[in-house]
Amino acid sequence: MDAVRNPFAPGAGSRPPELAGREVIIEDALTAIQRAMLGKASRSQMLLGLRGVGKTVLLNNIEEMAEAAGHLSSSIEAPEGKALCELLVPKINQALRKLSTSERAKAKTHQALRALRSFASAFKLTYGDTSISVDPEVGVADSGDMVADLPELFVRVGEAAKSADRAWTLLIDEVQYLRTEELAALIVALHKVNQKGLPVLFFGAGLPQVAALSGDAKSYAERLFHYPAVGPLDESDAATAIRQPIQDEGEEIDENAIREILTRTKGYPYFLQEWGYQCWNLAKGLRITLDDALTAAKAATKRLDEGFFKVRFDRLTPKEREYVIAMATLGAGPYRSSDIADALRETHQSLGPRRAQIISKGMIYSPSHGDIAFTVPMFNEYLIRNYVSKSNQSSPR
Ligand SMILES: Nc1ncnc2c1ncn2[C@@H]1O[C@H](COP(=O)(O)OP(=O)(O)OP(=O)(O)O)[C@@H](O)[C@H]1O
Ligand SMILES: [Mg+2]
Repeated sequence: MDAVRNPFAPGAGSRPPELAGREVIIEDALTAIQRAMLGKASRSQMLLGLRGVGKTVLLNNIEEMAEAAGHLSSSIEAPEGKALCELLVPKINQALRKLSTSERAKAKTHQALRALRSFASAFKLTYGDTSISVDPEVGVADSGDMVADLPELFVRVGEAAKSADRAWTLLIDEVQYLRTEELAALIVALHKVNQKGLPVLFFGAGLPQVAALSGDAKSYAERLFHYPAVGPLDESDAATAIRQPIQDEGEEIDENAIREILTRTKGYPYFLQEWGYQCWNLAKGLRITLDDALTAAKAATKRLDEGFFKVRFDRLTPKEREYVIAMATLGAGPYRSSDIADALRETHQSLGPRRAQIISKGMIYSPSHGDIAFTVPMFNEYLIRNYVSKSNQSSPR
């Protein structure tokens, strides 16, 4: 079919042609956003799911809804190995500058900007263009201790938003990369604005281990957030994700072709986009047939192996690769840590640091005590396909 009109969108954070199966999450987010605008208490949300399930797409969607409802929004992606405040301060500065155009909010915005300036100095941050052109406020958000300063800053921002009859929504992607003290500070800050009834909302997204990380950081995090699970799409939603974009372009796909795609992708959004994309380009006739879907499998798998899977695998050191390959030889997982140790002929304890390192890179996580699983769906199949020879399933190629 005409490649120019191909509706599918495989890619990190790419808006899908049909955002299937996320109605409940979107509805809940919209309710929270609207309640915040009315000054009513609303719960922040932490979207949790594996790689490629559509967390970033949802966060982008929520940000658009928040802006449309009258919120100011600040969105950031937590970087690996960089401090949160380096990204947060310019974003808050931007939001406050927008607020300062409101006459009613002038005084409170000025106060918030001063707190931001104190905060920035305490954490030794400077920026050229976005420098904050007010005097710092001594004694506010300037102790240099994130857990003490961030709540004071959030309160000032919340008060400024309230005085303009607006709300402030903060969105953070890849929450698992936040440092422990940053996550703790964030939780305390959200708790504080919540107690004060200020119109501040938070939407985070991250890998499943974030639930445990935030619980460890502050025990009351459990009550502070909703943790919507973002998973693979069920059969009917996955079928819609494939069928609807094709029909919207005035084309057709056979039902047995859809079934083949669902079997191969297990309903994972990233894989659905890749499969849909390849099927469309490869289809010769007027409709996409089972034959097209079978042919597309090869191209889709190749693209995923060279992109989605490879970029993740490339981040691992040789020793870490050995570990994940040993996991893959044991099946689809979750895996007992002790079984992985046995496969590597090492002790469970001696592998601890290596396991922790792979977890911190966001490749694996512990779904329950003593268990390990991949954060990338079907990663085991990729490893077997590419790094385990058929004759000896335990030795790397
Ligand atoms: N509900 C959905 N229906 C169909 N396709 C979707 C849906 N949500 C996301 N996608 C598609 O899935 C792919 C991955 O989305 P996204 O990058 O948001 O995932 P993610 O969970 O943020 O992944 P990662 O953890 O790797 O950052 C994109 O190509 C997107 O278009
Ligand atoms: Mg993402």
